[in-house]
Amino acid sequence: MTITVFGASGAIGKLFIQKALDIGLKVRAYIRNNSKFDLTHHNLVTIEGELDDFEKVKYAISDADAVISTLGPPLKRKYDLFAVFEGHKNIVAAMELKKIRRFITIATPSVKSTEDKPSLVTKMPSIMAKLFFPSAYQEIVQVGELVKQSALDWTIVRFIAPNNKPGTGKVKVTFGDKKISWGIPRADIAEFLLTQVNDKQYIRSMPIIGS
Ligand SMILES: NC(=O)c1ccc[n+]([C@@H]2O[C@H](COP(=O)([O-])OP(=O)(O)OC[C@H]3O[C@@H](n4cnc5c(N)ncnc54)[C@H](OP(=O)(O)O)[C@@H]3O)[C@@H](O)[C@H]2O)c1
Repeated sequence: MTITVFGASGAIGKLFIQKALDIGLKVRAYIRNNSKFDLTHHNLVTIEGELDDFEKVKYAISDADAVISTLGPPLKRKYDLFAVFEGHKNIVAAMELKKIRRFITIATPSVKSTEDKPSLVTKMPSIMAKLFFPSAYQEIVQVGELVKQSALDWTIVRFIAPNNKPGTGKVKVTFGDKKISWGIPRADIAEFLLTQVNDKQYIRSMPIIGS
């Protein structure tokens, strides 16, 4: 099985790739700057390109059985260029064109799901994000709407406050109906993303994960 990863040079992206390689998957890692990427493996191919390069994005996803994005907007108060949204537009369009269905991406609970129940974890992140990171809030909501409207078998994995603690191996899922801790180790996020590749439970759904 081959997986294309966007956001491959990031902390969660690298953990995801390592875990995927460890179980024998083939990975195509899309990165904007090769010098920032230090993973090597006989089952790993790197593709250097920008998110707005549709032809490169299309090439990167060709032959993929599933596509993962661990891209996220910059945590600046205000910015104009929604590069991660533009990237998602290209990824979704390329996948629809190439008839590749499985797409897993990340967000925060600022992106709302019809499955959400009123609770702190479903309400508070959007209040905070609108206040402190209005551009990132707008961008992530736009990404969510784009993915939800696509014809793909998508899963949007939502979480808050990723950290670098060791993975617990015990990820909890909520839609506001169960209590979870707000922070989550990046290793647990990567593991959960990997399980989603073959798990159909959350197709067209947006689990909020915590530990
Ligand atoms: N704080 C929260 O509560 C929360 C919740 C959910 C999601 N997130 C987001 O989750 C994302 C992933 O987490 P992480 O810890 O893995 O972050 P990270 O280490 O900063 O990784 C972000 C990845 O996105 C890529 N990227 C960002 N903007 C890009 C652009 N314009 N063009 C191409 N690539 C771009 C980065 O590429 P480069 O290496 O080239 O920069 C990197 O590969 C973060 O963006 C974070 O903001 C945060």
